[in-house]
Amino acid sequence: MAAEPVLEARGLSKQYRRGDVAVDALRGVDLVVPEGAFVTVTGPSGSGKTTLLLTLAGLLKPSAGTVRFRGAALDGQSDALWARFRRRHLGFVMQSFSLVPYLSARENVMLPLALLGRARREQYERAEALLARVGLEHRALHLPRELSAGQQQRVAIARALANAPALLLADEPTGNLDPALAGEVLELLAGVNAESGTAILMVTHSPQAAAAGTHRVHLDEGRAGARPEGAPATAGSLRSRG
Ligand SMILES: Nc1ncnc2c1ncn2[C@@H]1O[C@H](COP(=O)(O)OP(=O)(O)OP(=O)(O)O)[C@@H](O)[C@H]1O
Ligand SMILES: [Mg+2]
Repeated sequence: MAAEPVLEARGLSKQYRRGDVAVDALRGVDLVVPEGAFVTVTGPSGSGKTTLLLTLAGLLKPSAGTVRFRGAALDGQSDALWARFRRRHLGFVMQSFSLVPYLSARENVMLPLALLGRARREQYERAEALLARVGLEHRALHLPRELSAGQQQRVAIARALANAPALLLADEPTGNLDPALAGEVLELLAGVNAESGTAILMVTHSPQAAAAGTHRVHLDEGRAGARPEGAPATAGSLRSRG
């Protein structure tokens, strides 16, 4: 039997309401992230990319549809269980880095392990190893503001990997970086994916960034489907209905 995908969403819809205005940000998205895959989702601004990531992580409640993690349904579980699921199994990398400004690079990477109640020595040693992996062992004591943008994003990637996540969710991780630094960050993500088997779901509007993935899909007005022009064919890991 084929292994369960790490994450699977079926018929995912999300409607935002603001007074009389309703926005259908997701309209029946089917998404499969196979174990170990690097899935990139492209789409124009407002197509629902961030909404998709937040809904998959339980940070937004879908209006309809289901999310399964390694075959187990996550829908309807309490906020506390969603939070525990995220701490154990997910890593997050955001466009704006989102490092804690008063913690050093090392302490930022230790933080997810502190939240999991791991021994301080384990937190420290894992943070050291991850900072070395992203090429920043010599910046462990620096605060985020003492690091360049590219270095901050590498610390954020190290932090996202601290809990050895099954799935790393990335929202425009190269959006604030110039092209050379963006290329380095994409190479790092692809390397981490290849060597550790951590699956990655990355949303981006950059075709260059999307090309780093092993699976490419496209989102438009809340519907997933047709690949953008020139994208290589993959086994349709993302489809839409309705
Ligand atoms: N909290 C909210 N309340 C109401 N509407 C929202 C909310 N968040 C997003 N939207 C709307 O939902 C749609 C999808 O937004 P989303 O942020 O998911 O797009 P995106 O693809 O991530 O765009 P970008 O590339 O600009 O980040 C947009 O039309 C947006 O205006
Ligand atoms: Mg967005």
